[in-house]
Amino acid sequence: MLNTENLVVRFGGVFALGGVDFAMTKGEVHCLVGPNGAGKSTFFKVVTGQIAPTSGRVSLGGSDITGEGSAQIVRRGIGIKMQTPQLFDDMTVEDTIWLGAYRGRGKAHARRRTAELLDELRLGEVARAEVGKLAHGLRQRVEIASVLAGDPELILLDEPAAGMSDADVDFLAALILRLRGQHSFLVVEHDMRFIRMIADRVTVFHNGKIFLEGRSDAVLSDQGVKDIYLGKGKAHA
Ligand SMILES: Nc1ncnc2c1ncn2[C@@H]1O[C@H](COP(=O)(O)OP(=O)(O)OP(=O)(O)O)[C@@H](O)[C@H]1O
Ligand SMILES: [Mg+2]
Repeated sequence: MLNTENLVVRFGGVFALGGVDFAMTKGEVHCLVGPNGAGKSTFFKVVTGQIAPTSGRVSLGGSDITGEGSAQIVRRGIGIKMQTPQLFDDMTVEDTIWLGAYRGRGKAHARRRTAELLDELRLGEVARAEVGKLAHGLRQRVEIASVLAGDPELILLDEPAAGMSDADVDFLAALILRLRGQHSFLVVEHDMRFIRMIADRVTVFHNGKIFLEGRSDAVLSDQGVKDIYLGKGKAHA
């Protein structure tokens, strides 16, 4: 469903991505991990159209989407949740979700979808609250609801568990597990507990390249991967 071929991103003399061939299939929860500076966010920014690659190709369901902007990519059925919430602080929770559901599909649909999502994400009690007044974990939840409102086939999340309490992380993991199958997820994340709960497959980035990719349990127990996290990976000269 989402593929990259020999993706390269250069910032001046730094190769943030040094030729990445990535593939994920429909229906899976795929996590991207790796130590600081590995290239995860750069990869995320390229596939979400926030930066254009220096070279290489990104394709979605067989169509070349290289160089398309975020708005175009969203129209292709991808939901994007950036690391910092992209919400309007003075809008209510309800209106935020409604707006995500409305786009091109009418008011009746938007009303029904909003009610469903307020319930599914347990946001009913704060439906009329302004987004800016909510605690971090709830804001993240509202943003996920607004992404889900567009019914995207593929959802890309950048560090959704960052700064969340354990209870919020558990809630988010359970939500992703319930939605798996209906949606595919690509998640950049540092929180290993969260990754263990949700991931079908894991790709480890290191020095701008894919170090290892495979089933979650195999990758996370790999000695080479553990060494990278301890700063003694082979690719470190
Ligand atoms: N806008 C930029 N200009 C110059 N160098 C950059 C830029 N963005 C990223 N880099 C460099 O590219 C490399 C990869 O960075 P990236 O942010 O993709 O890593 P990351 O895996 O997301 O790290 P973290 O876990 O810390 O978020 C790093 O060496 C970083 O310093
Ligand atoms: Mg990052």
